Amino acid sequence: MNPLTMRVLLDNWEDRGLLHRVRKEVDPLYELGAVINTKEGKEPFLFEKVKGYHTPMAAGLGGDRELLADSMGIKASELIPKIIDSIVNPIPTTLKQTGPVQENLVTGDFDLADLFPIPTYHADDSGAYYVSGILVVKDLSGQKRYTSIRRMQYLGGNRTNILITSPELMEQYAHYEEMGEPMEVAVMFGVVPAVVLSSQISTHLYHTDKLDVAGALLGQSLDVVQCKTVDLEVLAEAEIVLEGRMLPHEREMEGPFGELAGYYGTRTPQPIVEFSAVTYRNDAIAQTIFPSSYEERLPMALVREATLFSTVRQVVPNIKAVHIPMGGVARYHAVIQIKKKHEGDGKQAALAAFASDKDLKHVVVVNDDVDIFDSDDVEWAIATRVQASDDVFIVPGAKGSPLESSHHLKGVTDKMGIDATYPLGKEELFKRTSIPFAVNLEDYL
Ligand SMILES: Cc1cc2nc3c(=O)[nH]c(=O)nc-3n(C[C@H](O)[C@H](O)[C@H](O)COP(=O)(O)O)c2cc1C
Repeated sequence: MNPLTMRVLLDNWEDRGLLHRVRKEVDPLYELGAVINTKEGKEPFLFEKVKGYHTPMAAGLGGDRELLADSMGIKASELIPKIIDSIVNPIPTTLKQTGPVQENLVTGDFDLADLFPIPTYHADDSGAYYVSGILVVKDLSGQKRYTSIRRMQYLGGNRTNILITSPELMEQYAHYEEMGEPMEVAVMFGVVPAVVLSSQISTHLYHTDKLDVAGALLGQSLDVVQCKTVDLEVLAEAEIVLEGRMLPHEREMEGPFGELAGYYGTRTPQPIVEFSAVTYRNDAIAQTIFPSSYEERLPMALVREATLFSTVRQVVPNIKAVHIPMGGVARYHAVIQIKKKHEGDGKQAALAAFASDKDLKHVVVVNDDVDIFDSDDVEWAIATRVQASDDVFIVPGAKGSPLESSHHLKGVTDKMGIDATYPLGKEELFKRTSIPFAVNLEDYL
């Protein structure tokens, strides 16, 4: 059975020698992040002593394909089919009267910083931030539940900012503002990677309940409990939950903050969340994700790969696999592998990719003898199979990602497709060298 709780997963990985347990005290001001960053968010850490707190903090749980898949009991190669299947066949959550996350309750006059660590990460960040909390909201009808991750800057007391870049959620908040009412939110910490992964599924595209999708990723229904002070449900097995309200017509300045692409986001006025309650398990373990690390990028990339694969397959059925590499900030680059059957398949696949995801800037399409997870192999295909005048196309001035600096400068984004497949009928010219059999070096030493 797959671990449904973060603490069981940490134990499991520790037993298998996969967890870094840090016994030395670390300061949440820069030091904790610096330690996580030694492994770029690809390896799990458990910090036993965070300066000023009694609560340990976990990080780096979902930044490696193998480990993320392992947390769901599958292999890395099964991730994309699993995500697609889980979106199509979600497993509904089970409502319980009570759960471990409500073993302790804090209400009244509290200061968030007194309860659990709130780290500061990059040199020029404007302050301490919650980066990894899974935000739970309901849609306007109150019937549908959505999760996502939105960073929250600690403002003192029981207040934070919240940065929401999704137009749908901001429209929903605007609706509440028009009525002069707050929007209820809950924020969960201490969850397994499947919950982070499912939170990255586009609401706009699928309108699915992402906690139900997380259940399908894990192969069983997840228990939820009703919050104490807001009308929302949260995971019964989360470590910590903050309950609160986004206030109408209030803004405070947010940023700069070291963001996904490795640059500082600008300082802008953002909405305020006022928290009314904190619930947590006995011996709670806090959780964070180092911003811009693999742990932030990988869940986004995987969900985009699943969408891209499905969309491109509609026009190029002979697509084999897609890869959204981390170096392309998990959204600006894609490599598509096809079994070429018709001339034009390569360019068509790139066009379909651009149509499916406005953030994509550069798409490379390769034959199925190229390892799309090996950047050297992809570069080799570009080096030996591309003639730019025939195989590269550029669409200037299209829509792009507002999170990207060069788009910011220009206001629009150019799209470049590279068809690195070789012409049909030229297999002999492009046949890769090979050795007839593999050997085990140990046998020769
Ligand atoms: C670690 C992490 C931090 C994120 N921080 C933010 C953020 O601060 N603001 C934001 O709008 N999106 C952020 N995202 C992306 C959103 O969570 C993601 O786009 C969203 O969940 C997609 O769902 P939606 O279609 O409901 O917006 C973050 C993602 C991750 C993995």
